[in-house]
Amino acid sequence: MDFIMRALVVFMVGFCLPAHLGAQLEVGFYDDKCAAAESIVEEEVRGALNVNSGFGAGLIRMHFHDCFVRGCDGSVLIDSTGSNRAEKDSPANNPSLRGFEVIDRAKLRLEGTCKGVVSCADILAFAARDSVQVLSGFYYDVPAGRRDGRVSLASEADTNLPPPVFTLSQLTQFFAAKGLTQAEMVTLSGAHAIGRSHCTSFGNRLYSFNTTTAQDPSLDPTYAAQLRKQCPQNPNATLVVPMNPAAPYSLDNSYYSNILANRVLFTSDQTLLSSSSTAGLVSQNSRSPYLWLNRFADAMIKMGQIGVLTGNAGEIRSNCRVIN
Ligand code: HEM
Ligand SMILES: *[C@@H]1O[C@H](CO)[C@@H](O)[C@H](O)[C@H]1NC(C)=O
Ligand SMILES: *[C@@H]1O[C@H](CO)[C@@H](O)[C@H](O)[C@H]1NC(C)=O
Repeated sequence: MDFIMRALVVFMVGFCLPAHLGAQLEVGFYDDKCAAAESIVEEEVRGALNVNSGFGAGLIRMHFHDCFVRGCDGSVLIDSTGSNRAEKDSPANNPSLRGFEVIDRAKLRLEGTCKGVVSCADILAFAARDSVQVLSGFYYDVPAGRRDGRVSLASEADTNLPPPVFTLSQLTQFFAAKGLTQAEMVTLSGAHAIGRSHCTSFGNRLYSFNTTTAQDPSLDPTYAAQLRKQCPQNPNATLVVPMNPAAPYSLDNSYYSNILANRVLFTSDQTLLSSSSTAGLVSQNSRSPYLWLNRFADAMIKMGQIGVLTGNAGEIRSNCRVIN
């Protein structure tokens, strides 16, 4: 029953999307080209998360950062070379993005099994889905058939990825520019139930909020005091704290109750209470884990179709770090 519902939702999302948002992707794309593709990715993701669950958060975020810069074309995976600073070396990604080795291992096995068939962009979309499944128990089918891009520029990551100091209207604009609604932005932000943040990403809210107020008054003072202990002023750039200390690796709707308790790390999180419509979605999501997970899967599927390359566009990279 659940399977039929999911299939229906996938169909309807695909049906309702404008053609440029990748209606050409299809569930089961590799069934007749490389039948083991999705199971090989899943094995590698499960193996990696067994060792360190943090890779799950890393892979979900990596898919988002791939899709927001030049579409979901695997451009985030490309290494910098000589004069070219690639996306992964933008401050939005370096040093925080993690999980590249998981994609490399899956790609290596896939090239052994079906040479030149499975794109890096699809591997990343599958790996994000598999991470969601391991960390939430919730599964969704991923439409596939993406091809890999040949360009990766740090400057484009700088300008397309929303920074944590953004307000609601800025976030809404950035997501709208990618064809995502404000409600989908609220839904996708729920991924901040898992993983970690570097102290440097929110230190402004503890020490230098604005010219008159050092500590952001919208941050729960007890939580702020705890964070100041973990993150001193001028912290070591490698220092991190869990996004949700109560359950750092459980992908559920806890993000929304944390917002309501003023216990979230970023301005971009707390700002979701600043309009009545987004505040309404926050409280709705906080009350129903299953409702949120369904919304999250749908929004991930839609995000996964942003600006995709299909058909003969792009290429199938043989090494995800290097264009052919
Ligand atoms: C709404 C705008 C968003 C902003 C401003 C934002 C910002 C950030 C920042 C600053 C971090 C911490 C990075 C660090 O210092 O280590 C982070 C982590 C994370 N973000 Fe977002 N994010 C946004 C939306 C999303 C979306 C749409 C997703 C996925 C659907 C996502 C998934 C994650 C995950 C899973 C982590 C933890 C990563 C890890 O543990 O390695 N974020 N985000
Ligand atoms: C600083 O932030 C506080 C709390 O949000 C606010 O009341 C105040 O107006 C802000 N000051 C400036 C100069 O922006
Ligand atoms: C920052 O922390 C890392 C890991 O704990 C350590 O290797 C490094 O020396 C530290 N750097 C500074 C400047 O303290």
